[in-house]
Amino acid sequence: MTEAVLLVGGKGTRLQPLTINTPKPMVPAAGVPFIAHQLARARAAGVDHVVLATSYLAEVFEPYFGDGSAHGLRLTYVHESEPLGTGGAIRHAARALAARPGEPVLVFNGDILTGLDIRGLLRRHERVQADVTLHLTRVADPRAFGLVPTDGDGRVLAFTEKPRRPEEIVTDQVNAGCYVFRREVIDAIPAGRPVSVERETFPALLDADALLHGVVDASYWLDLGRPASFVQASADLVRGIVHSPAVPGDPGEYLVLPGAHVEGGARLGGGTVVGAGARVAAGAVVEGSVVLDGARVEAGARVTASMIGSAARVGPRTVIDCAVIGDRAEIGADNELREGARIWCGTAIPDAAIRFSAV
Ligand code: GTP
Repeated sequence: MTEAVLLVGGKGTRLQPLTINTPKPMVPAAGVPFIAHQLARARAAGVDHVVLATSYLAEVFEPYFGDGSAHGLRLTYVHESEPLGTGGAIRHAARALAARPGEPVLVFNGDILTGLDIRGLLRRHERVQADVTLHLTRVADPRAFGLVPTDGDGRVLAFTEKPRRPEEIVTDQVNAGCYVFRREVIDAIPAGRPVSVERETFPALLDADALLHGVVDASYWLDLGRPASFVQASADLVRGIVHSPAVPGDPGEYLVLPGAHVEGGARLGGGTVVGAGARVAAGAVVEGSVVLDGARVEAGARVTASMIGSAARVGPRTVIDCAVIGDRAEIGADNELREGARIWCGTAIPDAAIRFSAV
């Protein structure tokens, strides 16, 4: 049996307002809750039991995924009444694992889209007999991530979480949010209190001379924490730039879910997805965006690289670029919302009230 813990309890503050009613891992990307892609990829790699470590809005996961049988997996839900952080959540979830000491347990952050070869990571973990094996990826600007330098054999030398000083930026290898733990390493994480795996567990293991092994992988990788990366991930899934067995359709320039209505003369592209019950009117252009269920994009509107919340309405001739529109928000005609603008759920904006807005 191959087991995994999927961390899905974070508040997803950077994705607000869409995460006010929906936890980030359940926000739809390419037509299904984001973690459906992670679960499908894990299953394809031979994982058969996944423990979902929930906290924030914990109640929404089980009604959708049930016991996992419809997704070819066994799913168990473990709830933290107070969020325990990444390390505390892994420790708390361990109660539902069957793995014995010495056996591997995969851990996934619930907001990472990657083409990583999961089986390959497990094989490497076994071969080097590591205590923890970490997936690492190279990024152009590592400042927003956890830096993980390694020696020539892949042995992890240090952890620097979100470096501030230029001299701290000693590598472009960052923690990619997927690990293999030996079971007993999980059991040694302190129980019952918040623990950050990145800031506490990994540095403590290094101090104790544990073998932490980094695997640098050049496949597709995206952290969906920010709105721009979330829409990018959804668009890349729709276009097949990264493959997920959970995308409900063939790769293409757009995905229109059953029950959506796109009028003739509307233009969709760039990996746009239009959710069930949503409407895109004639003359509207929607590029590289996520239009959630029941939303309306009216005639002549232009929406690019944006997220339109469920049952929201984008008025005629309105321009929305790199913005997040909350659920049920109403934007009147001829508005212009540009990079970084966020409109809260249920807000009503009259015609032509906003020419520009950024946070
Ligand atoms: P932001 O609030 O925007 O930073 O997002 P986030 O809450 O998701 O935090 P972050 O991106 O650092 O979390 C990484 C992963 O760990 C995500 O999949 C979170 O759902 C998960 N996570 C973070 N904190 C906790 C926690 O306290 N408990 C559990 N179960 N999961 C957590």
